[in-house]
Amino acid sequence: MNDSPRAVAATALGRVLREGAYSNVLLAPLGDDPDGRLVRRLVYGTLRHLVRIDRLLAQAASRPLDAIQPGLLDLLRIATWELRLGDGAPHAAVNEAVTVAETRFGKPVTGFANAVLRSVQRAEERLPAGEEGASLELAVAPWIYRRLQTAWGDEETRAFLTASLVPAGRTGRVRPGADGGAGEPVAGIPGAIAGGPVGPGVLPMDPASVAVGLAAEVTPGMSVLDMAAAPGGKTMHVVDLLEGRGTVVAADAHARRVRSARSRLEQLDVVVPWIVADGRRPPFPPAVFDRVLLDAPCTGLGTLRRRPEIRHRLDPESPDRSAELQRQLLASALRLVKPGGFVVYSACTVFPEETVDVVDGLAAEPPRGLPGRVAGQGWLLAPHLTGTDGMFISLVRP
Ligand SMILES: C[S@@+](CC[C@H](N)C(=O)[O-])C[C@H]1O[C@@H](n2cnc3c(N)ncnc32)[C@H](O)[C@@H]1O
Repeated sequence: MNDSPRAVAATALGRVLREGAYSNVLLAPLGDDPDGRLVRRLVYGTLRHLVRIDRLLAQAASRPLDAIQPGLLDLLRIATWELRLGDGAPHAAVNEAVTVAETRFGKPVTGFANAVLRSVQRAEERLPAGEEGASLELAVAPWIYRRLQTAWGDEETRAFLTASLVPAGRTGRVRPGADGGAGEPVAGIPGAIAGGPVGPGVLPMDPASVAVGLAAEVTPGMSVLDMAAAPGGKTMHVVDLLEGRGTVVAADAHARRVRSARSRLEQLDVVVPWIVADGRRPPFPPAVFDRVLLDAPCTGLGTLRRRPEIRHRLDPESPDRSAELQRQLLASALRLVKPGGFVVYSACTVFPEETVDVVDGLAAEPPRGLPGRVAGQGWLLAPHLTGTDGMFISLVRP
């Protein structure tokens, strides 16, 4: 890395906040050396606590935050996270931020940057009482806190949000016959490992995603449709479960995602038919598949540990918007299943609208044998329950 970690982190933060980049994708190429780890900590920490950080900065700065150049503001945000919420040395945070600010924006900004950060360092932070304070502490908008609290009560909401603030470790699925390296098996989810370094036959994915493949109870000879398949993690799992007998068709509505998933799988010598198709209008006759996997597009609230920016991209209507598409996809998926077969409905979120409510009243039941807990007519894995991403899984019959 040529630039200093704080310079790299500020650039990445700007791309996530203003250009819609995904932090996990953007930071994936960084190494596991100390500089790479520092950049990740700075970007993820700042993204998690952005609202609280901006509140501290607004108190400390002599001008409104929207009057500060965005790139300079990002440097100040990162340093504020380090000073108030991180675990680094305060003088390094201030000195580095000011040095990078000088290189990028010239000498005149150094006095301002220094003054703001010294004031951040000294400031007393008083979190408001009640829901507003809780949502700042737990780093989600008040409506998210409220929505979960209504469904789960205070204790579980806090447990979920607190666990969602802890970065996810390295995890994956060991392909049959492959070497898992130093990864430890994840209890109750065969094939999933955590920790590392992992071996070459390990596909990076969260254990909760491995659980979805297991819930499908795919056996050799079956015909399977993966209706929302890109980037292909669960398709690969189905391929392994079929052991060379049976068929899997991988479909996704987005051509670009299909192209990159197909080439990724081909690099691993996994060749399956990929089609670009909107799951609401699938190009198949009814009742032809033993299983349809509907790993639904969703708000992604269950993946906050890996994509902390998600919290800033949602609005109170997001879960309902998502649910409308999910219901249509599920209705369509159910038409494609043979008698005796089922749809595996999964979503990496925990909002009731996108999970229990979608399958409510249908012939749906939780999968058996997985860690987690029952949630309505489905099953929930989540950081506070299983140390995994949040994932809802339900087996739905036509
Ligand atoms: C959660 S991701 C799937 C992840 C994938 N199953 C895996 O394990 O790698 C949801 C996918 O749904 C796709 N999608 C969104 N709307 C869709 C639609 N109407 N029909 C089919 N796929 C859709 C998105 O392009 C996205 O790839």
